[in-house]
Amino acid sequence: MTTPNTPTPTELASRFGTPLYVYDLDRVRAARADLFRWLPEGFEVFYAFKANPHVDLVRALRTGDGPACKAEISSTGELAAALEAGYAGTDILYTGPGKTPGELDEAVGLGVRTFSAESLSDVTHIGEAALAHGTVADCLLRINSATASATTSIRMTGAPTQFGIDSETVAELASELRSVPGTRVAGLHLFSQSNAKDEAALIGELTHTVGVAAAIQEDLGVELELLDIGGGFSVPYAQEGGRAVYPKLRGELAAVLDVHFPRWREGTPRLAVESGRYLAGDSGTLVTRVSNVKVSRGKKFVIADAGINTFGGMSGLGRLMPVTVHVPTDADTEKASLVGPLCTPGDVLGRQIELPAGLNAGDLVAIPNTGAYGPTSSLLMFLGRPAPAEVVISGGEVVSATRIEHVRTPLGELGEGDRR
Ligand SMILES: Cc1ncc(COP(=O)(O)O)c(C=O)c1O
Repeated sequence: MTTPNTPTPTELASRFGTPLYVYDLDRVRAARADLFRWLPEGFEVFYAFKANPHVDLVRALRTGDGPACKAEISSTGELAAALEAGYAGTDILYTGPGKTPGELDEAVGLGVRTFSAESLSDVTHIGEAALAHGTVADCLLRINSATASATTSIRMTGAPTQFGIDSETVAELASELRSVPGTRVAGLHLFSQSNAKDEAALIGELTHTVGVAAAIQEDLGVELELLDIGGGFSVPYAQEGGRAVYPKLRGELAAVLDVHFPRWREGTPRLAVESGRYLAGDSGTLVTRVSNVKVSRGKKFVIADAGINTFGGMSGLGRLMPVTVHVPTDADTEKASLVGPLCTPGDVLGRQIELPAGLNAGDLVAIPNTGAYGPTSSLLMFLGRPAPAEVVISGGEVVSATRIEHVRTPLGELGEGDRR
Protein backbone atom coordinates (compact mmCIF):
# COMPACT_ATOMS: atom_id res chain seq x y z
CA MET A 1 0.00 0.00 0.00
CA THR A 2 1.45 3.35 -1.00
CA THR A 3 0.30 6.10 1.35
CA PRO A 4 1.01 9.80 0.87
CA ASN A 5 3.81 9.42 3.42
CA THR A 6 5.42 6.36 1.87
CA PRO A 7 9.10 7.27 1.52
CA THR A 8 10.28 7.48 -2.07
CA PRO A 9 13.25 5.47 -3.32
CA THR A 10 15.20 8.74 -3.52
CA GLU A 11 14.50 9.53 0.13
CA LEU A 12 15.41 6.00 1.21
CA ALA A 13 18.59 6.03 -0.86
CA SER A 14 19.77 9.29 0.67
CA ARG A 15 18.95 8.02 4.16
CA PHE A 16 20.36 4.52 3.93
CA GLY A 17 22.74 4.57 0.95
CA THR A 18 22.83 2.42 -2.15
CA PRO A 19 22.62 -0.20 -3.46
CA LEU A 20 19.36 -0.58 -1.61
CA TYR A 21 16.57 -3.12 -1.62
CA VAL A 22 13.15 -1.94 -0.51
CA TYR A 23 10.67 -4.68 0.48
CA ASP A 24 7.04 -3.69 0.98
CA LEU A 25 5.31 -6.07 3.41
CA ASP A 26 1.87 -4.97 2.21
CA ARG A 27 2.70 -6.54 -1.14
CA VAL A 28 3.95 -9.71 0.54
CA ARG A 29 0.64 -10.03 2.39
CA ALA A 30 -1.31 -9.36 -0.80
CA ALA A 31 0.61 -12.10 -2.62
CA ARG A 32 -0.10 -14.56 0.18
CA ALA A 33 -3.82 -13.74 0.12
CA ASP A 34 -3.90 -14.23 -3.67
CA LEU A 35 -2.03 -17.54 -3.56
CA PHE A 36 -4.42 -19.00 -0.98
CA ARG A 37 -7.30 -17.70 -3.11
CA TRP A 38 -6.03 -19.56 -6.20
CA LEU A 39 -5.85 -22.84 -4.28
CA PRO A 40 -8.63 -25.15 -3.12
CA GLU A 41 -9.80 -24.60 0.47
CA GLY A 42 -7.57 -26.30 3.01
CA PHE A 43 -4.32 -26.26 1.02
CA GLU A 44 -1.19 -25.43 2.99
CA VAL A 45 1.50 -23.14 1.56
CA PHE A 46 5.17 -23.62 2.39
CA TYR A 47 7.15 -20.43 1.77
CA ALA A 48 10.51 -21.33 0.19
CA PHE A 49 12.96 -19.32 2.29
CA LYS A 50 15.59 -19.54 -0.45
CA ALA A 51 13.70 -16.81 -2.31
CA ASN A 52 14.22 -14.30 0.50
CA PRO A 53 14.90 -15.26 4.11
CA HIS A 54 14.70 -11.69 5.48
CA VAL A 55 13.20 -12.16 8.92
CA ASP A 56 10.64 -9.33 8.59
CA LEU A 57 9.40 -10.73 5.31
CA VAL A 58 9.07 -14.30 6.53
CA ARG A 59 7.33 -13.05 9.67
CA ALA A 60 4.80 -11.19 7.52
CA LEU A 61 3.96 -14.48 5.78
CA ARG A 62 3.18 -16.11 9.12
CA THR A 63 1.21 -13.32 10.81
CA GLY A 64 -1.77 -11.09 10.05
CA ASP A 65 -5.17 -11.85 8.59
CA GLY A 66 -5.86 -15.01 6.64
CA PRO A 67 -4.13 -18.38 6.56
CA ALA A 68 -0.45 -18.39 7.55
CA CYS A 69 2.35 -19.83 5.47
CA LYS A 70 4.56 -22.60 6.76
CA ALA A 71 8.31 -22.67 6.18
CA GLU A 72 10.28 -24.65 3.62
CA ILE A 73 13.95 -24.34 4.56
CA SER A 74 17.15 -26.08 3.59
CA SER A 75 19.91 -24.78 5.82
CA THR A 76 20.62 -23.91 9.41
CA GLY A 77 20.70 -20.23 8.42
CA GLU A 78 17.15 -20.47 7.09
CA LEU A 79 16.18 -22.43 10.20
CA ALA A 80 17.47 -19.60 12.40
CA ALA A 81 15.44 -17.08 10.36
CA ALA A 82 12.30 -19.23 10.67
CA LEU A 83 12.63 -19.60 14.42
CA GLU A 84 13.41 -15.90 14.88
CA ALA A 85 10.27 -15.08 12.88
CA GLY A 86 8.20 -17.27 15.21
CA TYR A 87 7.62 -20.38 13.09
CA ALA A 88 7.16 -23.43 15.29
CA GLY A 89 9.30 -26.49 14.62
CA THR A 90 6.11 -28.26 13.57
CA ASP A 91 5.48 -25.66 10.85
CA ILE A 92 8.83 -26.29 9.19
CA LEU A 93 9.68 -28.62 6.33
CA TYR A 94 13.43 -29.24 6.03
CA THR A 95 14.49 -30.04 2.46
CA GLY A 96 17.65 -30.44 0.42
CA PRO A 97 19.79 -33.11 -1.23
CA GLY A 98 22.85 -32.76 1.02
CA LYS A 99 21.64 -32.60 4.60
CA THR A 100 24.66 -33.13 6.85
CA PRO A 101 24.62 -35.01 10.17
CA GLY A 102 25.39 -31.71 11.93
CA GLU A 103 22.49 -29.80 10.42
CA LEU A 104 20.06 -32.69 10.91
CA ASP A 105 21.08 -32.87 14.55
CA GLU A 106 20.58 -29.12 14.95
CA ALA A 107 17.22 -29.16 13.15
CA VAL A 108 15.80 -32.05 15.18
CA GLY A 109 17.21 -30.53 18.38
CA LEU A 110 15.39 -27.27 17.61
CA GLY A 111 12.09 -29.03 17.05
CA VAL A 112 11.86 -29.73 13.32
CA ARG A 113 10.00 -32.99 12.78
CA THR A 114 9.26 -33.05 9.05
CA PHE A 115 11.94 -33.64 6.44
CA SER A 116 11.93 -34.11 2.72
CA ALA A 117 14.00 -37.24 2.09
CA GLU A 118 15.82 -37.51 -1.22
CA SER A 119 17.00 -41.14 -1.06
CA LEU A 120 16.97 -44.21 1.15
CA SER A 121 20.30 -43.16 2.64
CA ASP A 122 18.91 -39.68 3.34
CA VAL A 123 16.02 -41.32 5.24
CA THR A 124 18.61 -43.26 7.23
CA HIS A 125 20.52 -40.09 8.11
CA ILE A 126 17.30 -38.37 9.19
CA GLY A 127 16.43 -41.40 11.32
CA GLU A 128 19.84 -41.38 13.01
CA ALA A 129 19.40 -37.73 13.99
CA ALA A 130 15.87 -38.37 15.26
CA LEU A 131 16.94 -41.40 17.32
CA ALA A 132 19.79 -39.41 18.87
CA HIS A 133 17.11 -37.04 20.19
CA GLY A 134 14.80 -39.87 21.26
CA THR A 135 12.18 -38.99 18.68
CA VAL A 136 10.77 -40.04 15.32
CA ALA A 137 10.95 -37.85 12.21
CA ASP A 138 8.24 -37.63 9.56
CA CYS A 139 9.68 -38.09 6.10
CA LEU A 140 8.13 -36.79 2.93
CA LEU A 141 9.76 -38.89 0.24
CA ARG A 142 10.83 -36.63 -2.56
CA ILE A 143 10.00 -38.24 -5.86
CA ASN A 144 11.81 -37.69 -9.13
CA SER A 145 8.99 -38.59 -11.49
CA ALA A 146 9.92 -40.39 -14.69
CA THR A 147 7.19 -38.48 -16.49
CA ALA A 148 6.25 -34.83 -16.79
CA SER A 149 3.53 -32.73 -18.26
CA ALA A 150 4.57 -29.22 -19.15
CA THR A 151 7.66 -27.61 -20.56
CA THR A 152 8.85 -25.14 -17.97
CA SER A 153 11.77 -22.81 -17.48
CA ILE A 154 13.38 -24.87 -14.72
CA ARG A 155 12.70 -28.59 -14.77
CA MET A 156 13.84 -30.43 -11.68
CA THR A 157 12.56 -33.88 -12.41
CA GLY A 158 12.48 -36.63 -15.04
CA ALA A 159 16.24 -36.64 -15.62
CA PRO A 160 19.08 -38.09 -13.55
CA THR A 161 19.53 -35.58 -10.70
CA GLN A 162 20.54 -35.34 -7.06
CA PHE A 163 16.91 -34.60 -6.27
CA GLY A 164 14.46 -37.22 -5.15
CA ILE A 165 13.94 -40.94 -5.44
CA ASP A 166 13.46 -42.16 -9.02
CA SER A 167 9.75 -42.96 -9.23
CA GLU A 168 10.32 -46.29 -10.99
CA THR A 169 12.39 -47.57 -8.03
CA VAL A 170 9.87 -46.83 -5.27
CA ALA A 171 8.05 -50.18 -5.44
CA GLU A 172 11.23 -52.21 -4.98
CA LEU A 173 12.49 -49.90 -2.20
CA ALA A 174 9.13 -49.64 -0.45
CA SER A 175 9.67 -52.06 2.44
CA GLU A 176 13.12 -50.63 3.20
CA LEU A 177 11.83 -47.06 3.02
CA ARG A 178 9.02 -47.93 5.43
CA SER A 179 11.21 -49.53 8.05
CA VAL A 180 14.04 -47.09 8.73
CA PRO A 181 14.43 -46.69 12.52
CA GLY A 182 13.64 -43.19 13.77
CA THR A 183 11.43 -42.32 10.78
CA ARG A 184 7.90 -42.62 9.49
CA VAL A 185 6.95 -42.24 5.86
CA ALA A 186 4.37 -39.50 6.28
CA GLY A 187 3.94 -38.38 2.72
CA LEU A 188 5.44 -37.28 -0.55
CA HIS A 189 7.22 -34.20 -1.84
CA LEU A 190 7.36 -33.43 -5.54
CA PHE A 191 8.80 -30.25 -6.96
CA SER A 192 9.14 -30.31 -10.69
CA GLN A 193 9.10 -26.71 -11.81
CA SER A 194 9.77 -23.14 -10.92
CA ASN A 195 8.22 -20.09 -12.58
CA ALA A 196 5.73 -21.89 -14.86
CA LYS A 197 5.26 -20.05 -18.11
CA ASP A 198 1.48 -19.74 -17.87
CA GLU A 199 -1.56 -21.10 -16.06
CA ALA A 200 -1.96 -24.03 -18.47
CA ALA A 201 1.63 -25.14 -17.82
CA LEU A 202 1.16 -24.81 -14.08
CA ILE A 203 -2.12 -26.72 -14.04
CA GLY A 204 -0.72 -29.36 -16.40
CA GLU A 205 2.25 -30.06 -14.18
CA LEU A 206 0.43 -29.93 -10.83
CA THR A 207 -2.43 -32.17 -11.98
CA HIS A 208 0.08 -34.58 -13.49
CA THR A 209 1.89 -34.59 -10.14
CA VAL A 210 -1.30 -35.59 -8.32
CA GLY A 211 -1.60 -38.64 -10.58
CA VAL A 212 2.06 -39.55 -10.04
CA ALA A 213 1.58 -39.25 -6.27
CA ALA A 214 -1.42 -41.58 -6.34
CA ALA A 215 0.60 -44.22 -8.18
CA ILE A 216 3.50 -43.85 -5.74
CA GLN A 217 1.10 -44.24 -2.82
CA GLU A 218 0.15 -47.63 -4.27
CA ASP A 219 3.80 -48.60 -4.78
CA LEU A 220 4.67 -47.60 -1.24
CA GLY A 221 1.74 -49.24 0.45
CA VAL A 222 1.41 -46.31 2.86
CA GLU A 223 -1.56 -43.97 3.14
CA LEU A 224 -0.20 -40.47 2.64
CA GLU A 225 -0.80 -37.95 5.41
CA LEU A 226 0.77 -34.98 3.64
CA LEU A 227 1.21 -34.51 -0.08
CA ASP A 228 3.35 -31.57 -1.17
CA ILE A 229 2.80 -31.17 -4.92
CA GLY A 230 5.41 -28.44 -5.44
CA GLY A 231 4.83 -25.16 -7.20
CA GLY A 232 5.81 -23.06 -10.18
CA PHE A 233 3.84 -19.91 -9.28
CA SER A 234 5.14 -17.07 -11.32
CA VAL A 235 6.10 -13.41 -11.09
CA PRO A 236 8.34 -11.35 -13.37
CA TYR A 237 11.97 -11.42 -12.25
CA ALA A 238 13.57 -7.97 -12.44
CA GLN A 239 11.13 -7.11 -15.23
CA GLU A 240 8.10 -4.83 -15.21
CA GLY A 241 4.75 -6.59 -14.81
CA GLY A 242 2.52 -8.21 -12.23
CA ARG A 243 2.14 -11.57 -10.55
CA ALA A 244 0.45 -14.29 -12.60
CA VAL A 245 -3.25 -14.97 -12.02
CA TYR A 246 -4.63 -18.51 -11.76
CA PRO A 247 -8.44 -18.37 -11.99
CA LYS A 248 -8.80 -21.99 -13.16
CA LEU A 249 -6.33 -23.63 -10.82
CA ARG A 250 -8.67 -24.16 -7.89
CA GLY A 251 -11.30 -26.04 -9.88
CA GLU A 252 -8.85 -28.13 -11.89
CA LEU A 253 -6.88 -29.21 -8.83
CA ALA A 254 -10.03 -30.10 -6.89
CA ALA A 255 -11.26 -32.20 -9.83
CA VAL A 256 -8.07 -34.23 -10.16
CA LEU A 257 -7.83 -34.69 -6.39
CA ASP A 258 -11.41 -36.02 -6.33
CA VAL A 259 -10.31 -38.69 -8.81
CA HIS A 260 -7.07 -39.78 -7.15
CA PHE A 261 -7.54 -38.93 -3.46
CA PRO A 262 -11.29 -39.09 -2.79
CA ARG A 263 -10.85 -38.29 0.93
CA TRP A 264 -8.73 -35.18 0.43
CA ARG A 265 -11.59 -32.88 1.45
CA GLU A 266 -11.53 -34.59 4.87
CA GLY A 267 -7.77 -34.02 5.13
CA THR A 268 -6.48 -37.40 3.92
CA PRO A 269 -4.02 -36.49 2.73
CA ARG A 270 -3.39 -32.87 3.71
CA LEU A 271 -2.30 -31.00 0.59
CA ALA A 272 0.48 -28.45 0.24
CA VAL A 273 2.27 -26.36 -2.34
CA GLU A 274 5.58 -24.51 -2.17
CA SER A 275 6.25 -21.01 -3.33
CA GLY A 276 9.12 -18.58 -3.08
CA ARG A 277 9.15 -16.01 -5.87
CA TYR A 278 5.36 -15.53 -6.09
CA LEU A 279 5.18 -14.51 -2.43
CA ALA A 280 8.26 -12.30 -2.29
CA GLY A 281 9.03 -11.17 -5.84
CA ASP A 282 6.86 -8.13 -6.38
CA SER A 283 7.47 -6.77 -2.89
CA GLY A 284 10.98 -5.72 -3.79
CA THR A 285 12.64 -2.87 -5.68
CA LEU A 286 16.39 -2.59 -6.10
CA VAL A 287 17.61 1.00 -6.13
CA THR A 288 21.11 1.54 -7.46
CA ARG A 289 23.12 4.70 -7.99
CA VAL A 290 25.04 5.42 -11.17
CA SER A 291 28.77 5.73 -10.42
CA ASN A 292 29.94 6.51 -13.92
CA VAL A 293 28.84 6.65 -17.53
CA LYS A 294 31.18 5.97 -20.43
CA VAL A 295 31.16 5.20 -24.12
CA SER A 296 33.27 2.41 -25.55
CA ARG A 297 33.46 1.98 -29.31
CA GLY A 298 30.16 3.72 -29.77
CA LYS A 299 28.27 1.81 -27.03
CA LYS A 300 27.16 3.44 -23.82
CA PHE A 301 27.86 1.81 -20.44
CA VAL A 302 26.02 2.95 -17.34
CA ILE A 303 28.07 1.73 -14.38
CA ALA A 304 25.95 1.28 -11.27
CA ASP A 305 26.87 0.44 -7.68
CA ALA A 306 24.80 -2.79 -7.88
CA GLY A 307 26.21 -5.67 -9.88
CA ILE A 308 25.97 -9.42 -9.72
CA ASN A 309 27.31 -9.17 -6.16
CA THR A 310 24.03 -7.43 -5.26
CA PHE A 311 21.63 -8.98 -7.68
CA GLY A 312 22.22 -11.82 -10.02
CA GLY A 313 24.25 -14.65 -8.62
CA MET A 314 21.65 -16.75 -10.42
CA SER A 315 22.43 -15.14 -13.76
CA GLY A 316 24.61 -18.07 -14.75
CA LEU A 317 21.47 -20.17 -14.72
CA GLY A 318 19.86 -17.92 -17.29
CA ARG A 319 17.25 -16.80 -14.79
CA LEU A 320 18.15 -13.14 -14.70
CA MET A 321 19.21 -11.42 -17.87
CA PRO A 322 18.33 -8.82 -18.79
CA VAL A 323 16.80 -6.68 -16.08
CA THR A 324 14.53 -3.76 -16.89
CA VAL A 325 14.78 -0.41 -15.25
CA HIS A 326 11.82 1.66 -14.17
CA VAL A 327 11.39 4.49 -16.65
CA PRO A 328 8.96 7.34 -15.86
CA THR A 329 6.11 7.32 -18.41
CA ASP A 330 7.02 10.64 -20.06
CA ALA A 331 10.81 10.13 -20.03
CA ASP A 332 12.95 9.63 -23.12
CA THR A 333 14.98 6.46 -23.25
CA GLU A 334 18.16 5.29 -24.91
CA LYS A 335 19.89 1.95 -25.33
CA ALA A 336 22.84 1.33 -23.02
CA SER A 337 24.34 -1.49 -20.98
CA LEU A 338 23.68 -1.42 -17.25
CA VAL A 339 26.75 -2.90 -15.61
CA GLY A 340 27.97 -3.30 -12.04
CA PRO A 341 31.20 -2.25 -10.32
CA LEU A 342 33.00 -5.60 -10.34
CA CYS A 343 36.24 -6.30 -12.17
CA THR A 344 34.73 -8.98 -14.38
CA PRO A 345 33.13 -8.67 -17.79
CA GLY A 346 30.37 -10.92 -16.42
CA ASP A 347 29.09 -8.10 -14.22
CA VAL A 348 26.28 -7.08 -16.54
CA LEU A 349 22.70 -6.57 -15.35
CA GLY A 350 21.39 -5.74 -18.79
CA ARG A 351 23.15 -5.53 -22.14
CA GLN A 352 21.91 -2.71 -24.39
CA ILE A 353 18.63 -2.30 -22.57
CA GLU A 354 16.27 0.65 -22.55
CA LEU A 355 17.42 3.14 -19.90
CA PRO A 356 16.28 6.66 -19.12
CA ALA A 357 18.15 8.94 -21.54
CA GLY A 358 21.05 11.04 -20.27
CA LEU A 359 21.83 9.24 -17.03
CA ASN A 360 24.74 10.77 -15.15
CA ALA A 361 26.90 9.81 -12.20
CA GLY A 362 24.83 10.23 -9.05
CA ASP A 363 21.46 9.40 -10.65
CA LEU A 364 19.34 6.59 -9.25
CA VAL A 365 17.77 3.76 -11.21
CA ALA A 366 15.19 1.33 -9.85
CA ILE A 367 14.82 -2.31 -10.91
CA PRO A 368 11.32 -3.67 -10.20
CA ASN A 369 10.22 -7.13 -8.97
CA THR A 370 13.42 -7.94 -7.13
CA GLY A 371 12.00 -9.16 -3.83
CA ALA A 372 12.91 -12.78 -4.56
CA TYR A 373 16.33 -14.23 -5.34
CA GLY A 374 18.06 -10.95 -4.51
CA PRO A 375 20.90 -10.58 -1.99
CA THR A 376 21.12 -14.13 -0.69
CA SER A 377 21.26 -15.62 -4.16
CA SER A 378 23.91 -13.20 -5.36
CA LEU A 379 27.70 -13.28 -5.27
CA LEU A 380 27.61 -11.27 -2.05
CA MET A 381 31.23 -11.62 -1.02
CA PHE A 382 32.80 -11.36 -4.46
CA LEU A 383 35.39 -8.59 -4.55
CA GLY A 384 34.67 -7.63 -0.97
CA ARG A 385 32.09 -4.93 -1.62
CA PRO A 386 29.52 -4.33 1.13
CA ALA A 387 26.21 -6.13 0.91
CA PRO A 388 23.26 -3.95 -0.12
CA ALA A 389 21.09 -2.14 2.40
CA GLU A 390 17.71 -3.83 2.92
CA VAL A 391 14.87 -1.59 4.00
CA VAL A 392 11.48 -3.00 4.91
CA ILE A 393 8.36 -0.87 4.77
CA SER A 394 4.85 -1.66 5.94
CA GLY A 395 1.81 0.59 5.78
CA GLY A 396 4.07 3.23 4.23
CA GLU A 397 6.47 3.27 7.19
CA VAL A 398 10.01 2.02 7.49
CA VAL A 399 10.04 -0.95 9.87
CA SER A 400 13.67 -1.94 9.54
CA ALA A 401 16.87 -0.97 7.74
CA THR A 402 19.73 -3.46 7.89
CA ARG A 403 22.67 -4.87 6.01
CA ILE A 404 24.19 -8.36 6.04
CA GLU A 405 27.78 -8.18 7.31
CA HIS A 406 30.44 -10.78 6.73
CA VAL A 407 32.79 -11.22 9.64
CA ARG A 408 35.82 -13.52 9.63
CA THR A 409 35.75 -15.44 12.89
CA PRO A 410 38.55 -17.60 14.36
CA LEU A 411 37.57 -21.26 14.61
CA GLY A 412 38.98 -21.74 18.09
CA GLU A 413 42.54 -21.48 19.39
CA LEU A 414 45.41 -22.81 17.31
CA GLY A 415 47.42 -25.48 19.10
CA GLU A 416 50.89 -27.03 19.32
CA GLY A 417 52.17 -27.83 15.84
CA ASP A 418 49.99 -25.14 14.21
CA ARG A 419 51.91 -22.26 12.71
CA ARG A 420 51.08 -19.07 14.64
C1 LIG B 1 12.22 -27.69 -3.58
C2 LIG B 1 11.91 -26.28 -3.96
N1 LIG B 1 10.83 -25.68 -3.40
C3 LIG B 1 10.50 -24.41 -3.71
C4 LIG B 1 11.26 -23.66 -4.60
C5 LIG B 1 10.84 -22.26 -4.88
O1 LIG B 1 10.60 -21.99 -6.20
P1 LIG B 1 9.90 -20.62 -6.61
O2 LIG B 1 10.67 -19.53 -5.96
O3 LIG B 1 9.97 -20.57 -8.09
O4 LIG B 1 8.48 -20.66 -6.10
C6 LIG B 1 12.38 -24.24 -5.21
C7 LIG B 1 13.18 -23.48 -6.17
O5 LIG B 1 14.05 -23.94 -6.85
C8 LIG B 1 12.73 -25.59 -4.87
O6 LIG B 1 13.79 -26.18 -5.39
